[in-house]
Amino acid sequence: MYSFAKAFVNPASSPIRDLFKYLSDPEMISFAGGYPDPALFDVTGLEKASTRAYANSLSCLQYGNTDGTPQIKTEIMRLMQKRSVVTQAENIVVTTGSQQAFDLLLRVLIDEGDLALVENPTYPTNIQALRVHGARLMALPCDAQGLDVIALEQLLNSGARPKLLYTVPTFGNPSGSCMSLARRLRLLELAAAHGFVLVEDDPYGDLRFSGESLPSLAALAPQVPGANDWVVHMASLSKIVAPGLRVAWSVAPAAIAHRCYVAKQSADVGSSPWTQSIAAEYLASDALHSHLDRIRDGYRQKCAALCQALSERLGHALHFEQPQGGMFVWARLSHGLAAAELLKHALERKVMFVPGTGFHVDSPDVTTLRLSFAAPSVVQIREGVDRLAQAWQAAQA
Ligand SMILES: Cc1ncc(COP(=O)(O)O)c(C=O)c1O
Repeated sequence: MYSFAKAFVNPASSPIRDLFKYLSDPEMISFAGGYPDPALFDVTGLEKASTRAYANSLSCLQYGNTDGTPQIKTEIMRLMQKRSVVTQAENIVVTTGSQQAFDLLLRVLIDEGDLALVENPTYPTNIQALRVHGARLMALPCDAQGLDVIALEQLLNSGARPKLLYTVPTFGNPSGSCMSLARRLRLLELAAAHGFVLVEDDPYGDLRFSGESLPSLAALAPQVPGANDWVVHMASLSKIVAPGLRVAWSVAPAAIAHRCYVAKQSADVGSSPWTQSIAAEYLASDALHSHLDRIRDGYRQKCAALCQALSERLGHALHFEQPQGGMFVWARLSHGLAAAELLKHALERKVMFVPGTGFHVDSPDVTTLRLSFAAPSVVQIREGVDRLAQAWQAAQA
């Protein structure tokens, strides 16, 4: 009856969001969403920041600048400097979640049929965004060291002309893996040599709880001739402070940032000055430093608990690498069991995870799955893995 826009005639909904309906069951143990642990929210710090935001100026209740309040931009520049990225206010666009940063970028870069490269596997909501914008998608192979840059180079040498490459190099969602330094540098060289926008999505970089920290692509770009012109870095407070703030940003070359600013005018006029003010006060207080120590510690314990329980109870049935940070364990079922089949039995036992199919652009590996250790407690993690082991038994019967 309705004549829908092409991208919405048969829209594919997010495989993660589609599982949300089960969350209302209080007995459900969820390894599904990439939700931070609510017990680790810095409620006191945010309350204080909120009080200060009101006390300082009621302008936080007014419309604000489309690209972000001056106060939050100052704090973002300070935070980025701690992450070894020196940037200017004109390069920053504050957005409503980094999801919006990506959407704005696609509005300004992608025309129908343009080639966009992604990792295999990759974050499904951004596959969704790329499809809505009409991009032609191609997925590149990845391993424990991240994106396979040799495969990328071969593709580029064969004449492929991508507009952009989207990567989550530090604790990928869903892979949990971290791109090696050598590959980061090569990727920057390739972006500069072949002229494609390298979109670095970095919501998890601060969540390293073991191993040696690696500089982001944005931090490395000044070392690689020409690369600075091609890197767009997206970051967010969602995973490190609170997703409810919806405060995120992109750092981009001025010509791109300006166009994202114009695109944002018609998207939402501007992100909430209220939550930007709270976030700015929070960052100015330096509360983030000790908060990060606390959440890294919590996630280290939870990750260890999940990996240990999986090895003990399902070691014969699952292959996975223990991540050094982030929120996710990416696993593969042995004996060809499909993760969707396991999920059916798991839901009956009130435990859930996300089957891996939605993280692939094409030829999905049906035996893959993503488990997040962030939200459940250590006790729930152990109980959840027990239930998963029972589900696995049932799936064999
Ligand atoms: C890789 C990745 N990018 C972006 C986002 C969206 O984050 P935000 O809450 O800032 O929109 C997520 C959230 O799960 C994510 O995992």
